Amino acid sequence: MSPAKPMNLAVFLARAGLGSRRACDELIREGVVTVNDEVVEFPRQKVTVDDVVAVRGEPVSPRGLRYLLVNKPKGVASTRRDPHADKVIVDLVPRGRELFPVGRLDVDTTGLIVLTNDGVLANRLMHPRYGVPKTYVARVRGKVSRRALATLRQGVDLEDGMTAPADVRLRKQSAKTALVEITLHEGRKRQVRRMFRSVGLPVEDLSRRRYGPLTDKGLEPGGHRELTADEVDALRRAGEQVADEVSGEDEGQPLPLAAESPSDANSGPDEATGGSSGPEG
Ligand code: URA
Repeated sequence: MSPAKPMNLAVFLARAGLGSRRACDELIREGVVTVNDEVVEFPRQKVTVDDVVAVRGEPVSPRGLRYLLVNKPKGVASTRRDPHADKVIVDLVPRGRELFPVGRLDVDTTGLIVLTNDGVLANRLMHPRYGVPKTYVARVRGKVSRRALATLRQGVDLEDGMTAPADVRLRKQSAKTALVEITLHEGRKRQVRRMFRSVGLPVEDLSRRRYGPLTDKGLEPGGHRELTADEVDALRRAGEQVADEVSGEDEGQPLPLAAESPSDANSGPDEATGGSSGPEG
């Protein structure tokens, strides 16, 4: 058997789900981390999975955390199970049934969705009020006026309240349709379509092109790839910002991982955040 691969202590802790590498560096410097019962305050100390690492006396170990980025094509449901859809997103990737989609897109929307079994991170990223920024490109019917752009930017009054300020840019106006880019910092059910409709611009096509630090560069609809360690770290940092914003509020329970609840394929991030069952953001 080959010997276990050494890694930095901070990386070990990050892979055990304790936060970004930077947050884990701080944890180590606080002096609350032990390796084989000795306090270690040096984040780059090498450890392997054979070492006993504990945080405040609780042993921790890297789980098999997986993070995939999928470019959802049209016609695929972004849930784990949908009796009405031909296909669900978890079936687009190998061993996808072990993973949860982070948030939702409606069946006709294309674009980026993260699949993961890291429930704590997923919960944070999906916080309805402080979710990570998401950028969409919408093809809308009609002529986009300056006034409509200003209204979308400032906030529109939807049935579930005013929308938060958004970044909005007209990319192209053609005879009958226009391409508009919009970045939201919150995530509500069918929010983009409802916002455009409220200013008289029905959405004909919608695609999510950015999710926090991730872009769809090189990823065709239907494609997927694993996130790099740096991308996972960037997502964790975004999640920590959300956790700071909600400190004092109930952050919700960590998600049940698929492996822990095989009979309950429908429980997952959307329910866990108390969010609506429809597409967000
Ligand atoms: N907003 C929508 O209207 N639909 C989506 O799928 C995502 C965001």
